[in-house]
Amino acid sequence: MSVSFTVKGLRRTVLAGISCEISRGEVVGIVGRSGTGKTTLLNTLGGILRPGTGRILLDGQSFDRPTKKVITVFQDYGQALLPWRTVRRNVSLGIEREFSRTQVAERVARALAMTHLEGNADDLPWQLSGGMQQRVQIARALVMEPEVLLLDEPFGALDAMTRAALQDDLLKLQRETGFTVVFITHDVDEAVYLADRILVLGGSPANIVREVVSGLPRERDQLDTRESSRFIAARRSLADELRDERS
Ligand SMILES: Nc1ncnc2c1ncn2[C@@H]1O[C@H](COP(=O)(O)OP(=O)(O)OP(=O)(O)O)[C@@H](O)[C@H]1O
Ligand SMILES: [Mg+2]
Repeated sequence: MSVSFTVKGLRRTVLAGISCEISRGEVVGIVGRSGTGKTTLLNTLGGILRPGTGRILLDGQSFDRPTKKVITVFQDYGQALLPWRTVRRNVSLGIEREFSRTQVAERVARALAMTHLEGNADDLPWQLSGGMQQRVQIARALVMEPEVLLLDEPFGALDAMTRAALQDDLLKLQRETGFTVVFITHDVDEAVYLADRILVLGGSPANIVREVVSGLPRERDQLDTRESSRFIAARRSLADELRDERS
């Protein structure tokens, strides 16, 4: 598929010739330099942007608008939460019209438990740390019980320890729910640690210039995995690819 924007009457093709298939339950990372088209690709997968040519298929069905099966966690989480709503009511936002009060309460409780936010249900977003705010964003996606979770640089702005904890939480959630994950990161180590497969976007218009399969076992450990020869090899291969992409 391809995606173009028209700016002041000029057509700018950002993505061209993109073709990829993602399996159910797979964790796929997208990397590439700033401005290549990573967010554009993710938004197209989420049905937020429509491809100029080509189609996005989910279980063989074409869709071109947001669906409840595919939920996006956006890049700028600070701005995405409603400051006047409590954590609980930020999380319930996407489902409160659709389900009964009891069902909403149940689903929200589950999403808050999965993101370790049970104790903060009545806090307002600005009373939380950055890592907690990001967990609210994730809870908001989980409450929809999606089949596919799309994450745009989900842990980019967080300190290393919080980030490591959230990475492991995400992998644990994936194992529990079986959802498919597609995430963007600018951090090569994070890409290899989280993903089964990493897509490198490059060129202008951008295409998938390389795929790196990490070959890591599904059980990850912040220390052991990062020291394993497979991790080091995948990281090297990805870093080389990104260096070539820059030159
Ligand atoms: N709505 C839009 N209208 C016009 N051009 C756009 C629009 N959205 C994105 N672009 C252009 O598409 C290109 C890719 O943008 P995109 O946000 O996908 O990059 P990115 O890889 O996510 O970058 P970053 O790593 O900085 O987040 C950029 O050149 C950008 O200017
Ligand atoms: Mg982006």
